[in-house]
Amino acid sequence: MNRNLFRRTGVTFCVMAALAGTGSAAGEGVPYRQVADMLYTVMSADREVYTHMVVQRLVEDQQVIAASEHFEDDAALPLPAQMFRFGAERVEEQTEDFSYALLSLWPINKQNGPATGLEREGLERVAENPEENFYGEEELAGQRYFAAVYPDIAVAEACASCHNNHKDSPRTDIEVGDVLGGVVIRIPMP
Ligand code: HEC
Repeated sequence: MNRNLFRRTGVTFCVMAALAGTGSAAGEGVPYRQVADMLYTVMSADREVYTHMVVQRLVEDQQVIAASEHFEDDAALPLPAQMFRFGAERVEEQTEDFSYALLSLWPINKQNGPATGLEREGLERVAENPEENFYGEEELAGQRYFAAVYPDIAVAEACASCHNNHKDSPRTDIEVGDVLGGVVIRIPMP
């Protein structure tokens, strides 16, 4: 799915959160919810590995290179959130079987705001209740989607301070432990 297309068409959607995800992606196959959970496990493991084994090691421990949002101009490492988005953009080019994004109700990058009613609802729900993932279904331009939203928490002081001080951030009051956004995984249903 194309996130910008959602924005452009502004189609109406119909949300059915309660029973979402009990069906399966391929008839008798693995349930949607489980597929999304598995994808999330892989993408969050990769993000953690990049954050700890590349960024923290080279920037903080060994101090050989900086990490910067303007990594090309600064000859620096991309930020973990940028790496995550670049991966998601590659996936979007390669398949229509699923898509994912790191989104927020208070995005630094406006491209990372919710594009549909279900994305907004999911981000609101995980922000209020970070203990639980959100699962739902919605229809967009005649296509039904399963979507899962996983809370993304400011686990370190660096998350809070960078987001609070960023010129494009709509929030300046983030504290460690707050929900900063969520990973949204979307799977079209037949
Ligand atoms: C050095 C600054 C910096 C740090 C540290 C940082 N972020 Fe971000 N974050 C950004 C920038 C810049 C973006 C926009 C990336 C893009 O272009 O998509 C972003 C994007 C995000 C988004 C998507 C919504 C948005 O704001 O665009 C989430 C959610 C997020 N970060 C969570 C976190 C969490 C959780 C941590 C800590 C584990 C963290 N960030 C650490 C700078 C930072």
